[in-house]
Amino acid sequence: MTRESTLTIRLCGLDDWQDLRAIRLEALADTPDAYGSTYEESVLWSDAQWKNAASTRLFYLADRDGGVVGMVSGGFNDAHPGTRWLYGMYVTPSERGSGTAALLVRAIDDWARSHGVAEVYLHVTNSVPRARAFYEKVGFRTTGESFRMDRDHSLTLETMVQHLD
Ligand SMILES: CC(C)(COP(=O)(O)OP(=O)(O)OC[C@H]1O[C@@H](n2cnc3c(N)ncnc32)[C@H](O)[C@@H]1OP(=O)(O)O)[C@@H](O)C(=O)NCCC(=O)NCCS
Repeated sequence: MTRESTLTIRLCGLDDWQDLRAIRLEALADTPDAYGSTYEESVLWSDAQWKNAASTRLFYLADRDGGVVGMVSGGFNDAHPGTRWLYGMYVTPSERGSGTAALLVRAIDDWARSHGVAEVYLHVTNSVPRARAFYEKVGFRTTGESFRMDRDHSLTLETMVQHLD
């Protein structure tokens, strides 16, 4: 007998702080160039810092059969008032190519729509071509804006935007 695998996208809350820590540290270790913060600084966070992040910031977690396999965050950008942004996108290697990443994007799109905005923005690093290809596949396009990453000036970030239906 085979059991069907179940994928769930869920909103992260206080009780999920250990799942958030696990998948975020995995992301930072797996693809260090993709993120504005580092594994080295994040692994030093206290439990209280993770609990605070899990309960005050917007994260969606992807679960496959009860184990966390991906994450994404939604938020704002002080340099672009009024806009909504997708941050911290990650799916574990065994989950890539499965469609899970697109479901995480959809969660952010729905959040943005609920705020009445017509676009979602993100930054993508030049050294993660798979991410760039994925974002294009789900409808993001470059805006033409690019800049150096604060913590590592050898990396270039490009801004992409997706127009919501
Ligand atoms: C970015 C990420 C979430 C995308 O999810 P995913 O499941 O891998 O995405 P998909 O497989 O649906 O789409 C990736 C596409 O890029 C293609 N691709 C793979 N490697 C590539 C490469 N080196 N260059 C260009 N395209 C590539 C794939 O073939 C696929 O396109 P296809 O569906 O037309 O075949 C995931 O790869 C990931 O977590 N990567 C590590 C973290 C990361 O880079 N995060 C981005 C932060 S900005």
